[in-house]
Amino acid sequence: MTTTQRYTFTDRLPAEHYRAALTADISIGLAATPKTTSPMWFYDALGSKLYEEITRLPEYTAHRSEEGILALCADAVAEFAPWRELVDLGSGASEKTLLLLDSVETLDSYVALDVSASALHGAASRIAGNYPHLDVTALRTDFNQDLGLGDVAGERLIYFSGSTIGNLRPRPRRRFLRRLRSQMRPGDALLLGTDLTRAVPDMIAAYDDSQGLTAAWNLNLLAVLNRELGSGFDPDAFAHQAVWDASAQAIEMRLQSLVDQVVPIPALDREFHFVKGEEWTTETSAKFSPDRVVAELAAAGLGLRNWWTDAERRFGLSLSTVM
Ligand code: AVI
Repeated sequence: MTTTQRYTFTDRLPAEHYRAALTADISIGLAATPKTTSPMWFYDALGSKLYEEITRLPEYTAHRSEEGILALCADAVAEFAPWRELVDLGSGASEKTLLLLDSVETLDSYVALDVSASALHGAASRIAGNYPHLDVTALRTDFNQDLGLGDVAGERLIYFSGSTIGNLRPRPRRRFLRRLRSQMRPGDALLLGTDLTRAVPDMIAAYDDSQGLTAAWNLNLLAVLNRELGSGFDPDAFAHQAVWDASAQAIEMRLQSLVDQVVPIPALDREFHFVKGEEWTTETSAKFSPDRVVAELAAAGLGLRNWWTDAERRFGLSLSTVM
């Protein structure tokens, strides 16, 4: 734990944990058919920087839509309860959170959770500097295992923004919401951002932008694996793909092998075969209808208390409490 003048940083993903999770995911994921790995490995320092740029792309509307909705509904969220603590799950750069921090005057603590240390330090120092009345904690952790919900005297608002929930597949998503619900107490609420289903070409363009930033982000996964596991991936031997999976109602990001190839991964003491044209799923990003959001919340024991969307109905923000 590091206590700076202004915020506390706790790393609950020490090198051994990160490495153990990475080696397990990659050895299982690349041995599977189809090859499928977790999106968690995208967020090294370069990946986090690229992701921030992706959120500003004209084609990628989720971030801007959510920001617009929050600008309009933050006061209503503030009035819902005298929130004492704001927990930001997967906070990233925490830009949208500032709208909540400006509106919710009752807060005395702010907890940011993310896997990216660089994103956490940037966000926590900015928030601690601009909101000196807040007790700011930055927790580097994986919210799939650790929700960082400590004891708090009073109402707690848990903000899960950016439709990051869509990066979980249906079964892990159900488990995640149930676990979150089981750790919420009466008086806590979940403010959940969900990207809504829209025209397929628009959804695909958001994940295959004309500047090639999302492609660079996807291919950076290979650099992460080469650095962390000593693998011999050649980024020129793979191509970025974004595909709409209608049955799962999700965009899948994939890396397609451009040649038949065998890639050694020394840290796993294994090599993996890719045939030309083979597709490796690197991320799934579910898109939601408002009904699906309400049903998934209800299945976890969370009741919808309010719902906000943008004029184009591209994004939804739900506020739910324990039923
Ligand atoms: C973090 N997450 C919600 C983003 C998404 O839209 O699924 C990650 C992303 N993938 C491609 N572009 C952005």
